Parts: sequence; structure tokens; C-alpha cells
Amino acid sequence: MNKVAVIGLGASGLCALRHLTARPNVFQAVAFEQNSEVGGTWLYTPRIHKHDNGVRVHSSMYQNLKHYSIPNIPEIPGLKQFEGSFLHSHDYRVPEVFKGKTVLCLGGGASGIDIAMDLTSQAKKVFLSHRGKQITSPLPENLEETVEIKSFSENFVNLKDGRDLEVDTVIFCTGYKYDFPFLTKECNLNITDGRVYPLFKHIVHAKHPSLNFIGVTKKVCPFPTFHCQVQFMMANLDGSMKLPSYEEMLQDIEKDYETRRNEGMPHRHTHTMVGRKQWDYNDDITSMAETRPISKQVRDLFDKIHYTRINNLLEYKKYNYYLKNDNYVGVQN
Ligand SMILES: Cc1cc2nc3c(=O)[nH]c(=O)nc-3n(C[C@H](O)[C@H](O)[C@H](O)COP(=O)(O)OP(=O)(O)OC[C@H]3O[C@@H](n4cnc5c(N)ncnc54)[C@H](O)[C@@H]3O)c2cc1C
Ligand SMILES: NC(=O)c1ccc[n+]([C@@H]2O[C@H](COP(=O)([O-])OP(=O)(O)OC[C@H]3O[C@@H](n4cnc5c(N)ncnc54)[C@H](OP(=O)(O)O)[C@@H]3O)[C@@H](O)[C@H]2O)c1
Repeated sequence: MNKVAVIGLGASGLCALRHLTARPNVFQAVAFEQNSEVGGTWLYTPRIHKHDNGVRVHSSMYQNLKHYSIPNIPEIPGLKQFEGSFLHSHDYRVPEVFKGKTVLCLGGGASGIDIAMDLTSQAKKVFLSHRGKQITSPLPENLEETVEIKSFSENFVNLKDGRDLEVDTVIFCTGYKYDFPFLTKECNLNITDGRVYPLFKHIVHAKHPSLNFIGVTKKVCPFPTFHCQVQFMMANLDGSMKLPSYEEMLQDIEKDYETRRNEGMPHRHTHTMVGRKQWDYNDDITSMAETRPISKQVRDLFDKIHYTRINNLLEYKKYNYYLKNDNYVGVQN
């Protein structure tokens, strides 16, 4: 009997638990969840900071929109002198709190864009400061894209292009840090600026292959990806999939890393699956585990919604999709 401990019951852990418990002759699973309820990020709570039991509030979906609980707040000169307020997207819940205010969101990931858009219904003016490509979608009139922040002074946010912006609040939409504080040093897990090492196929600890991580990959179609990663983990644990040797796994990890670096991706994007990467990755892990890959329909739907979002942030949530002759057709509400 294969005894498995599942730590955390967010979408990843629930998916693992569901599949492990479906095979009671092979796996005996026990799950640990620090909260009183399961669901992780998908469990909306208006609370911020701590629960009644003293446990830190895990990241929660912000209201009306729709793994990590350690916010990444960059060290930017002058932040201590800044007299405006600031928070991390982790603690953002509703836009009403910012009625009539001027707010700057730092970070152009999904949180930055979602929160900036959400704020425009209440805030007087919203700045979205980021270092990514310029947004192609039309934006609300009171939302302006800017370059990155250089520094803070008492009353201003100083941008890298020399502009000084007077803002009431800065929201750091700068992502999360990987953190597994319950793993001892003997687990040999090394986390450096967004890279969790050594994870074979972003899942299996190469040195301790019975230690598996679901959901480390970023910018993926989350639930179907977790499903495939769980199948990969189970094929590893039940022995139906033979892993390469330790040295071969390290080489594979290095190859994946080097390919990314050669493509211009920074170290912090070691687990980011941009563009086709997530589908190639999915084909790779499902072919190794001899399980079904994410279906063409789900891939097409993900790509279609992603495309619509990029090009039309104002309208994309109004579309419903249906499948017609193997193609998704979007219908506006
Ligand atoms: C603000 C935000 C919005 C998002 N929006 C979307 C979206 O709209 N659509 C989408 O598809 N994806 C979205 N995502 C991506 C999201 O990360 C995934 O959808 C998914 O929730 C990740 O699941 P997870 O189980 O890996 O992590 P989580 O959902 O973070 O769950 C981890 C669980 O582990 C528990 N835990 C942590 N430490 C311990 C411990 N020491 N002991 C026991 N339990 C522990 C936590 O309490 C939590 O329940 C969003 C992410 C964020 C941060
Ligand atoms: N609607 C949705 O589907 C949804 C909503 C929210 C979150 N999510 C998911 O949840 C996860 C977390 O998303 P997230 O947006 O919170 O975090 P994220 O994807 O890690 O994005 C963080 C953003 O902050 C930027 N950043 C970090 N440090 C910075 C600095 N010092 N200066 C300037 N910019 C900085 C990053 O830029 P670089 O890229 O250059 O590092 C990136 O644009 C992701 O997997 C995301 O897909 C999904």
C-alpha cells in the first residue's frame, strides 16, 4: 500500500485527493489543511491578515472576479517615506474602498490587470505600472498604463521615465513567493527568486522522488493542468512510470531552464508556461505517464479566451462559449 500525505486542500490538493482515494487498493491518502475549510484560493473571504484561529489568511479571490500566501513586495527606494497607503493584491477585496481615490497598481500580471480594471468603477484615476509589453486592449478612460516605479518620495511615486505621480494608494500586484516552511533542510529543496529546485517536470523532487509538487507551474490553464500533474505523480508513485536516473532528471531540469534563459525568460520565470509552452509541457508529462492529455477542445477554449482577454479587457467577461463542429463560438450576453 502506498501511503500518501496531501498537504493543502486547494484546487491542487483536492484534485490529488480525489484521484488517490479513487484507487483505495493502491493508495491510502491522508490530507492536511491548515484552514477550517477546503478550497484554498477559491475560498472567498472578506477577511484579510488572519483567521480566528490565528492562521494567516491564504490568498483569496477578490470579489466579483472570479497558491500562494506569501506576498512578494519588491524593495523600492523610499517606500518607508511614502505617506500614501499601500497594500498587496493578496489583501485586495472590493473596489468601493477606493471610491474617488487615485490608485497605482504595480505589476502587469493577471492580478494587476484584473484589479486595475475592477478599480476603475470606483476610483477617480487608476495607473497600471508595469515592465511588460504594452497592453493591446482598449482601456477605460480613467485607467492609464505607465512604466515601472523608480522610487517613492513622501507624496509621490517616481516613475522610471521621470514622471512623478501623486497617488493615494499603491497596490503591489507583484505576485507571490514559493514557500514550503514545513519542509526541513533534509528535503533539499532550494528556492531562489521564483525557482523551486530540483523539480523534474516541475513536479517530482529529483533527489526524493516520493516528494511531489502539484501546481508550481504558472500561467497555465489551472485545473486541467493540476489533473494531468496528479496523474503524472500517481504514475510515479505506483511505479507504472519509470523515472529517469537522478542524473538524467537533473540534466532535464537544466535543459528546460537553459531553454527558457536562451529564449530571454528571466530566472524568476523558471515555472512560467507562456504561449505554447503549457501545451508542449502537457503533452510531455501525459505521454510519459501514458495518460490522456488536456483535450483539444479545452486547449482551444483556453487559447480563445486568452486571446479575447488580451484584445478586449472591457468586454471579454461578457462572452459565453459553445462548441460548434469542434470549434468554440463566443456569444456576447
Ligand atoms: C488572486 C488570485 C486569483 C486567481 N484567479 C484565478 C482565476 O480566476 N482562474 C484560475 O483558473 N486561476 C486563478 N488563480 C490561480 C490559482 O492559483 C489556481 O486556480 C488554484 O487556486 C491554485 O490551487 P493550489 O491548490 O495550487 O493552491 P491554493 O489554492 O493556494 O491552495 C493551497 C492550500 O494549501 C493550504 N496550506 C498552505 N500551507 C499549508 C500547511 N502548512 N498545512 C496545511 N495546509 C496548508 C492553504 O490553506 C490552501 O488551502 C488565481 C490566483 C490568485 C492568487
Ligand atoms: N483571472 C485570472 O485568471 C487570474 C487572476 C489573478 C491571478 N491569477 C493567477 O495567479 C497567479 C498569480 O498572479 P499575479 O498576477 O498575482 O502574480 P504574477 O503572475 O507573478 O505577476 C506579478 C507581476 O508583477 C510584476 N513584478 C514583480 N516584481 C516587480 C517589480 N519589482 N517591479 C515591477 N513589476 C514587478 C511581474 O513582472 P515580471 O513578469 O516582469 O516578473 C508580473 O507582471 C498567476 O499564476 C496568475 O495566472 C489568475
